[in-house]
Amino acid sequence: METFTTVTAMKSWAADERRSGKTLGFVPTMGYLHEGHLSLIHAARRENDRVAASIFVNPTQFGRNEDLSTYPRDPVNDAAKCAEAGVDALFMPGAEEIYGPRHQTYVEPGRLAEPLCGRSRPGHFRGVATVVLKLFNIVNPTAAYFGSKDYQQLQVIRAMVQDLNVDVRIVSCPTVREPDGLAMSSRNSYLSPAERKQAVCLYQALCKAKELFDHRVKDAHTYLEAMNDRVRSEPDATPDYISLVDPETLEDLQEVSDRCLAIMAVRIGKTRLIDNMLFER
Ligand code: PAJ
Repeated sequence: METFTTVTAMKSWAADERRSGKTLGFVPTMGYLHEGHLSLIHAARRENDRVAASIFVNPTQFGRNEDLSTYPRDPVNDAAKCAEAGVDALFMPGAEEIYGPRHQTYVEPGRLAEPLCGRSRPGHFRGVATVVLKLFNIVNPTAAYFGSKDYQQLQVIRAMVQDLNVDVRIVSCPTVREPDGLAMSSRNSYLSPAERKQAVCLYQALCKAKELFDHRVKDAHTYLEAMNDRVRSEPDATPDYISLVDPETLEDLQEVSDRCLAIMAVRIGKTRLIDNMLFER
């Protein structure tokens, strides 16, 4: 595996591979890699001649009072995991390499970035879209792999690629979970043992909603009540949002038909966790 820290070196490796006709799969991450990240790398490995991954804790997607400075980092272990998973090129730039002192241009996402996480994290998806487009321009991949755990992020990126005519295929991968159902996340490392036990309430609330869907319950309120009840039964859980939305537009549903997405952000103590589940018949 080759490791690059400069834009020039990463660009030149990727350009050489593409010029020789190789397909290139790309997995952007913020590091502290877990099985969820590795599942994206495995998918990219199966479908492409070459695989590139990036590890960059992107400052522009963190709000002022968020966890940029404490975000978990473990570059040495991450590099070993990437090599083991079959990554050919790992891009690990510093913040100054990506955002020079005169950086001033941003990607402004549209309506999809407004509700849900967009409401509680203003500017977050602008930072995500900006860094992802920059990474696409550096790596110029054939396909890029994203987890559906970050469902709104995935939709925002799909819209950006469509709207800005970016020549990359976006591939979504299923959420990888711990044995008890908690969605894997680098932020799970913030949880105390007591909080970790309570954190399963997100997944269990989604499972309750799934049961209602399987029973063909139509009224959205019934779902919201069931999910809220399960989350609020944990002493340290505070919902940020719990919603039932159209999977394409992310607009709230009043009535459930054949496709809907249950999606939530919940604080467990100080740690904000997100999860979602797609229901369809
Ligand atoms: P990060 O949170 O490190 O996630 C990197 C990728 O891994 C994302 O596509 C995310 O959806 C996926 N992922 C995380 N947990 C997962 C899980 N349990 N199962 C499956 N996939 C999972 O998302 C980001 O970084 C950043 O916003 C980024 C896109 C890199 C831009 O900075």
